[in-house]
Amino acid sequence: MAQSPNEQDIDDHTKIILKRYEDRANVTYNPVPTDILIHNYLAPVASPDFFRDKVILEVGAGCSSYIPLFLQSGCKRYYANDIIPERLAASRVDDPRYHELPGDFRTIDIPEQPDIIFANLVRMFLIPFLDEIVARFARILKPGGVFFSYDPNYFCPLSMYRRFADRKANPVRLFSPFRYANTFRRHGFEIEKLVPLTAKYPWTVGNWLLGTSFWLRARKK
Ligand SMILES: C[S@@+](CC[C@H](N)C(=O)[O-])C[C@H]1O[C@@H](n2cnc3c(N)ncnc32)[C@H](O)[C@@H]1O
Repeated sequence: MAQSPNEQDIDDHTKIILKRYEDRANVTYNPVPTDILIHNYLAPVASPDFFRDKVILEVGAGCSSYIPLFLQSGCKRYYANDIIPERLAASRVDDPRYHELPGDFRTIDIPEQPDIIFANLVRMFLIPFLDEIVARFARILKPGGVFFSYDPNYFCPLSMYRRFADRKANPVRLFSPFRYANTFRRHGFEIEKLVPLTAKYPWTVGNWLLGTSFWLRARKK
């Protein structure tokens, strides 16, 4: 069941997140095709083999394009968490390996230790809770497990512009990918990849001014 916390119990930052998605009757799901994800997005951090036989937990997974990719790659089980249950419903799939965990990632029960935790375009929403959330990743991942995420890179002027052009309730905080990586180091992770890129433009890979986004891949020691 989705959690429905008392209005007073919700912190001000989470209220902004909930406000952004208040039009729950009109969730639209336009997934990026799997082959484009593999070649244009994921290539610098992982290949489909990486997900085979793994238990995967995706944080902020409502409307995620990656759900078919993880299942087609042969993952063992896939848990989709999101604070907005209607966003999970929009990208739901009929597969016995697919399970939903609606609610705030900071408070949900996790039924088993994942091998991989993934977050796509979510961390920039959760910067005020970064330390708490990375500590939770460190607790719940299996030893040797991997966290990876894709987020805007605010050293790129185009990403900075997009942040302020977005006039909806906006929980996005500017943050440095390097400080972000250091938070993982402090919680016992080894950083395996920290890569800026603009998807579809391979010549931007590794360039912190031209890459609109960045990947982080961190392994629990
Ligand atoms: C920009 S969307 C990205 C969605 C999806 N990952 C994708 O790639 O399309 C951010 C998602 O994070 C979810 N979210 C925000 N705060 C959350 C929290 N505390 N716990 C779980 N999900 C959260 C939002 O509901 C939203 O679905």
